Amino acid sequence: MSAYLACFEEGCRQHFPADQVIYNCPRCGGLLEVQYSGAQPPAPELKRTWRERRMSNAPLDQSGVWRYREAIPFLEDLTHAVTLREGSTPLLSGPHAARYGGLDALVFKHQGFNPTASFKDNGMTCGVAQARRLGRTRVACVSTGNTSASMAAYAAAAGLHPLIFLPNGNISYGKLAQALEYGARTFQIDANFDQILALVRVLAEKLGIYLLNSINPFRIEGQKTIAIEMMDQRDWSAPDWIVLPGGNLGNTSAFGKALREMHATGLITRMPRLAVVQAEGSSPFFDYMQHKGEFTANTHPETLATAIKIGDPVSWPKARFELEATGGIVERVTEQEIADAKAVIGLCGIGCEPASAATLAGIRKLTASGEMRADADVVAVLTGHVLKDSDYIYRYHTGTLQTPDGSAITPRFGNKPVVVANDTDAIAKLIEN
Ligand code: F0G
Repeated sequence: MSAYLACFEEGCRQHFPADQVIYNCPRCGGLLEVQYSGAQPPAPELKRTWRERRMSNAPLDQSGVWRYREAIPFLEDLTHAVTLREGSTPLLSGPHAARYGGLDALVFKHQGFNPTASFKDNGMTCGVAQARRLGRTRVACVSTGNTSASMAAYAAAAGLHPLIFLPNGNISYGKLAQALEYGARTFQIDANFDQILALVRVLAEKLGIYLLNSINPFRIEGQKTIAIEMMDQRDWSAPDWIVLPGGNLGNTSAFGKALREMHATGLITRMPRLAVVQAEGSSPFFDYMQHKGEFTANTHPETLATAIKIGDPVSWPKARFELEATGGIVERVTEQEIADAKAVIGLCGIGCEPASAATLAGIRKLTASGEMRADADVVAVLTGHVLKDSDYIYRYHTGTLQTPDGSAITPRFGNKPVVVANDTDAIAKLIEN
């Protein structure tokens, strides 16, 4: 099979070579998608090959991305691929979270188990492989945290030079620490994510740096494997719903594309519905999908779930298409709802970062409104690790967490540490009470 880039806009659909360095259609400005010509092996053969590779010790077979390389055949030469053994993330059942969400059962696909602790690794291994194929030595991204840590790690492993741009003061130390440790040149800028993305795009063009934000269609190819692996783990039985947090909407685009392609090849026989959940203070896609008129960006997005604090999501046209293709919906949730849902996921012994918990908060609303049935088969994608925002967790449990506008968040599932004197009897009394 051979790969090419195609404009995503229905009225354009212009094709470009896969090794042309473009992030938007040069003709109409639309988003780009990787497409393939030639026949894929038949579904039963793919299923068998992918299952057999789980027994292999070959690095690319151990990767939960490259194991599915027939579904992402954009590289002519696989030696460009660098793996840190991304993917292969578990499906975890959370009965307590299911009850809270109004469901009989709920399974989480936990992307926090990735090498740099988020789903970005699935896409980044592909973005960095493409950078190597193009002979680019410098790669850049703007990030609310996870993308930067991921890009830094993969660029370092591939011998490239990572340049990272972060909104000043809005990044978790766990993520900044990773970027620094992996040797990325890191710039903290006094602007928000959307403003910095515009700046980085200009710099990338001017200095010949390869841009690795999710507008890069090769990253989307890698993120497709999250959905593919999910179906493989479920023995190719599609759930009724897949629930995702929505920020820049790259992951929504990736899931939609993966589902369409799996359906077309016969890997799955029915389409799950996608449910995208946004934070109320940062929900331009939710607003747009209510009326589908002009897309209006939110110039001052606010949420404590910094990973999805994005007011001008670049991939909204793809996300709209994928929601329509899957009969999907968008929901939005408050800061209080995210914080409580996050604590409930923690009580399952699972844990995740705030953006990921928007999924459970959204499920609770969707079952309450009757949109999602209690007996539905639902997989929620936890996009990042519990240790991403440890300060948030401490504040929630000690009752000091506040929303961006300064109102208090009530710790409905709070678990405050107890300060006590070094006194056996006093401690024993506390434990017994
Ligand atoms: N969840 C987490 C943990 C994220 O880090 C992100 C995005 C999202 C959800 C939203 O995904 O943009 O594909 O809709 N984080 C980016 C970053 C923006 O810079 O790490 P999306």
